[in-house]
Amino acid sequence: MARERNISREELLKQAGCALEVRKILEKRNPEKRYKAFVHTYGCQENVADSEHIKGMLLEMGYTLTEEVSEADFILYNTCAVREHAEDRVFGNLGAIKVYKKTNPDLIIAVCGCMMQQEHVREKMYKSYPFVNLVFGTHALHRLPELLLENLRRKKRIICAPEEKGSIAEDLPISRDNDIKMWLPIMYGCDNFCSYCIVPYVRGRERSREPEDVIKEAKEMIAAGCKEITLLGQNVNSYGKNNVSPMRFPGLLRELNAIPGDFKIRFMTSHPKDCTKELIDTIAECEKVSRHLHLPFQSGSDRILKEMNRHYDRAQYLELINYAKEKLPDLSLTSDVIVGFPGETYEDFKETVSLIEEVEFTSLFTFIYSPRKGTKAAEMPDPVSHETKTKWFKELCDKQEEIAAKRTAAMLSKTYKVLVERTSKHDESLLAGRTDGNVVIEFKGDKSLIGTYQNVTVTDTGAWVVRGELQK
Ligand code: SAH
Ligand code: SF4
Ligand code: F3S
Repeated sequence: MARERNISREELLKQAGCALEVRKILEKRNPEKRYKAFVHTYGCQENVADSEHIKGMLLEMGYTLTEEVSEADFILYNTCAVREHAEDRVFGNLGAIKVYKKTNPDLIIAVCGCMMQQEHVREKMYKSYPFVNLVFGTHALHRLPELLLENLRRKKRIICAPEEKGSIAEDLPISRDNDIKMWLPIMYGCDNFCSYCIVPYVRGRERSREPEDVIKEAKEMIAAGCKEITLLGQNVNSYGKNNVSPMRFPGLLRELNAIPGDFKIRFMTSHPKDCTKELIDTIAECEKVSRHLHLPFQSGSDRILKEMNRHYDRAQYLELINYAKEKLPDLSLTSDVIVGFPGETYEDFKETVSLIEEVEFTSLFTFIYSPRKGTKAAEMPDPVSHETKTKWFKELCDKQEEIAAKRTAAMLSKTYKVLVERTSKHDESLLAGRTDGNVVIEFKGDKSLIGTYQNVTVTDTGAWVVRGELQK
């Protein structure tokens, strides 16, 4: 049964015991010192959520968290393997922090996450990065206290072999990055094996948390003052497939919507093959669920979609989108697209462009295809040059910029309820709030408004920023 996939209480108690031992060793080493830990996260929100547990465990072990890598006694990179660029950045950054070992001989460097689930990466770490003390993959996350303890006791590098089976660890310590917006993973792993994608290999088979565990955590978040919960999973639409409870994703949304309080629910990611009309009806029914749907289509060409192993075609995707637009006229749509999949022609690419023109997404995440070792697509002939792909990529981005500018121009003079999240990244005197449809509006206002809902009227729109005025 599903619960058997959960890490046992005994195992979690053992880890808590190891955390206490680490704390004692550090205290004994230097009773005056506050040991500092720096954690940097690459990749998707699933990794961000994992890092919050890592930080929680580090606090239990007696560390304090720092944003300044040069003053850290423990540095951890939580890595992403989805594209080559993400991997290169990790190797580059590791090279750069090696020097800190000279000034701080007790410094521990750890690398974990998706990249470390891959045999060839672990080998590279072993051979070319001897100054890295700890290496462990996604499935061993909860064992950080045990691994660190072993490293401290035996003064020996640990390159953890990845466990085969993914599991679910409930009730791990946690230190959240944000008090207003919180991540709530509802499932882990992926069974879809899209031919370009490494995620199923590094995250393991799909497994869902039981609804009562998810609901309990959501209630705790709301009690702690959270205003926006984002449900996470690689394919949230197949939530609950192998669970003890028969509850599926729309049912879970309805349960969460029924929790009393002033908060919103978002979710990502939806896979078009499993996204049903029932889900769209549920969004329409549930007032706390944001009018925003992130529905990655990847390509507008049926031939490429088939090669990608996506299990839907352009017509099915558009039917779903049209149903959603009819049911929810104010729905904001976003998506992911890959340009330059092996064998893609300019005609195929043009179908992607025509799809974005037809749908008019609020925003797009666009990627140039990156071959991933071990995936099916990496073996396919790929005759188009990177230079040509880059040209196509720019053409797509230009088109989307045009669409986004048109969409934001239509927001002018309208008033939106926004959740005030932070100050603006480029002007400290401005606040930044997010609409229900996931558009950021900047406006003048007092910092004390952060964490509250406010009404803002749009006064000025550009391709990248939307400005507004706070309504009193
Ligand atoms: N589970 C989600 C997202 C997974 S990764 C989904 O199915 O949509 C996020 C995005 O990265 C994907 O949607 C895809 O657009 C992109 N991506 C994945 N593998 C890639 C690769 N090998 N090259 C380029 N982009 C990739
Ligand atoms: Fe990757 Fe496809 Fe799974 Fe998304 S659904 S994580 S793109 S294999
Ligand atoms: Fe990257 Fe792993 Fe997420 S590969 S996209 S961090 S699941």
